[in-house]
Amino acid sequence: MLFRQLIDLETSSYTYLLSAGPRREAVLIDPVKSQLQTYLTLLRELELTLVKTLDTHTHADHITALGDLRDATGAASVMGEQSRASCVSERVADGQTVEVDELVLRALSTPGHTNESYSFLLERGGPPMVFTGDVLLIRGSGRTDFQGGDPHASYRSIVHRLFTLPEQTLVYPAHDYKGWTASSIGEEKRHNPRLAGKSEAEYVAIMQALNLPDPKQIDVAVPANLACGQPAA
Ligand SMILES: [Fe+2]
Repeated sequence: MLFRQLIDLETSSYTYLLSAGPRREAVLIDPVKSQLQTYLTLLRELELTLVKTLDTHTHADHITALGDLRDATGAASVMGEQSRASCVSERVADGQTVEVDELVLRALSTPGHTNESYSFLLERGGPPMVFTGDVLLIRGSGRTDFQGGDPHASYRSIVHRLFTLPEQTLVYPAHDYKGWTASSIGEEKRHNPRLAGKSEAEYVAIMQALNLPDPKQIDVAVPANLACGQPAA
């Protein structure tokens, strides 16, 4: 399997490029609009054909490259069925798979950070890994105070869904602000300070006390992302 983790330094966003199989087809997860040329250069250099792009959810802190990548490469854009982004090419429901050459990614509905957040579990084509978007972060979790966020749903998505995956499953989130690049389900079960040994009520109290400022780009990013990063001028 070919696997690359790319960082947008301005927003501490991670984007993942995956490919496996004879057709050299690739998928990008959570691509960032300002990095479009980087992706196109890398795809060309690695002789890959981008066929699908996935957003784990409607991002509030950066603008998605889904629309621009579809224009540039013809790649189908995919989000979960609850997304309000009417521009996407395909929607997946809980349990459905996204298949690209020999890769099989299973869509897991994991609401909480937003009400339309999905995680994608790599089931074939490489080692077990799960792309958790912003619902489960490394030693943290995504805020639950806007875009239909719900700390109860976040707890259940993480503890009752993601934490039931095999412990060695690698965790790749959509962001990290400390420079950590990956974790595993077992590691987060034991060491995530918001979740390890915490009840749902304790987790909800932690999330409700965060009092975070709005992301700098929220007023621009959410409407733009509902148009796949290509709002009408
Ligand atoms: Fe987010």
